[in-house]
Amino acid sequence: MSWPLEPDAVQMRELVDAAMRRIVAHIESLPSQPAVNVEGATDYAHTLIEPLPQHGELLEKLLDSLFDDYIPRSFNAAGPGYLAYIPGGGLFHSAVADLIANAVNRYVGVCAAAPALVQLEANVVRWFCEIVGYGKGSGGVLTSGGSLANLIAVVTARRELLGDDFQRGTLYVSEQIHRSLQKAAVLAGFPLQNIREIPSDESFRIRIDLLREQLTKDRADGWTPMLIAGSAGTTNTGAVDDLRALAAIARQEKAWFHVDGAYGAFFMLTDRGRETLRGIEEADSIILDPHKTLFLPFGTGAVIVRDARTLRRAHAMHADYLPDMQEEDELVDFCEISPELSRDFRGLRVWLPLKLFGIEPFRQQLDEKLDLAKFAADELRKIDGIEIVAEPQLSIIAFRLVRPGADLNALNRELLGRINDRQRVMLTPAIVGGRFVIRIAIVSFRTHRERVEMALEDIAAAVGELG
Ligand SMILES: Cc1ncc(COP(=O)(O)O)c(C=O)c1O
Repeated sequence: MSWPLEPDAVQMRELVDAAMRRIVAHIESLPSQPAVNVEGATDYAHTLIEPLPQHGELLEKLLDSLFDDYIPRSFNAAGPGYLAYIPGGGLFHSAVADLIANAVNRYVGVCAAAPALVQLEANVVRWFCEIVGYGKGSGGVLTSGGSLANLIAVVTARRELLGDDFQRGTLYVSEQIHRSLQKAAVLAGFPLQNIREIPSDESFRIRIDLLREQLTKDRADGWTPMLIAGSAGTTNTGAVDDLRALAAIARQEKAWFHVDGAYGAFFMLTDRGRETLRGIEEADSIILDPHKTLFLPFGTGAVIVRDARTLRRAHAMHADYLPDMQEEDELVDFCEISPELSRDFRGLRVWLPLKLFGIEPFRQQLDEKLDLAKFAADELRKIDGIEIVAEPQLSIIAFRLVRPGADLNALNRELLGRINDRQRVMLTPAIVGGRFVIRIAIVSFRTHRERVEMALEDIAAAVGELG
């Protein structure tokens, strides 16, 4: 009797070797692949719709389709020219960790099922706490990304501060904050009108004076300010709110102080980042995304809290069919501090590269990104007609072309299309204060000086074409 779902040793090697040949070729060709290649890709996707397969096909044929036809028709999010949105990473060492984690398939939802492996992941969370300057008693959990991390933070704040009676609770965010925060609030049960979007200043930081005004008004109207959120790097322009001022206001209001550091918090590894992000350590909760600024593959976020007990109070739910949960503070059951029970062993994909290299190469990469953003801003300024709309506070710059008498939004939309058509870099826009601006987000561990120079050449050439 043969069991096709259980390959033997030879077949396992063949499987991995066949994938590896293509993966290596793919990664080696990343710098020469187009930064974006999606023309006709949705039409192509329609041709792939098919019924449940009744019979198997050859591995080689399936892998050829994947690598030759499906993967190339996309944003090249792992390549050096991806300066769009918030770039991800794709550390190969993490891919190997995932292969191991999935092949051994241990259960890490509860500590008793694999205590040593759970501890490896708990160590990763502890290191993140250390990076932001959290002290003893802090803790957290790895998530699938920043959105889920924001949700966990908002639910934890709600349960800590308001219990079940939260309909008069209000949340305060800048108009520039990532939408996943508003989404988290709505999913946590808050009516949309309980979310106060405070205008930002000319540097796209939350207006502290207007925040204070809104709080005073809300108190007078019988609302209960519950959560004040700051950005440690917005998606639009990389703006960092005045985190110390927000912390002080939150303390005064007895509100929860949350920081969205999905993009920016890992810059705490650098001297300049620590300076810019002062006050982050005063937050009650912080989200940070290893799949952004720690260069991991997509699917790895984190939420950490100053007092680990708050996560447990918000999420623990007893069930007879589970093993006993850990009572000691030192040990953690991830199912007790997050919405998930069964989950992947995502900690290994962070643990392996950090243990292999130590933190230094990560710090060095982030420092390089800060240098590159400054370099890009200085060079952009030399291009006739370019206005820097947002100076780099971390590693994102926003700019636009200004031509007297022109419809500037249409002009910059055209400029962006011309830059991206060259396919060496992919940039994306933002609308800030009604202005269409073009962003350069320098985040990937594969983006170095030569690619930023290519971006600048392409921008200058496209500006030249527009006359
Ligand atoms: C600042 C910020 N916060 C939160 C998120 C949401 O994170 P995720 O896409 O991992 O859910 C993003 C995503 O780009 C972000 O840039």
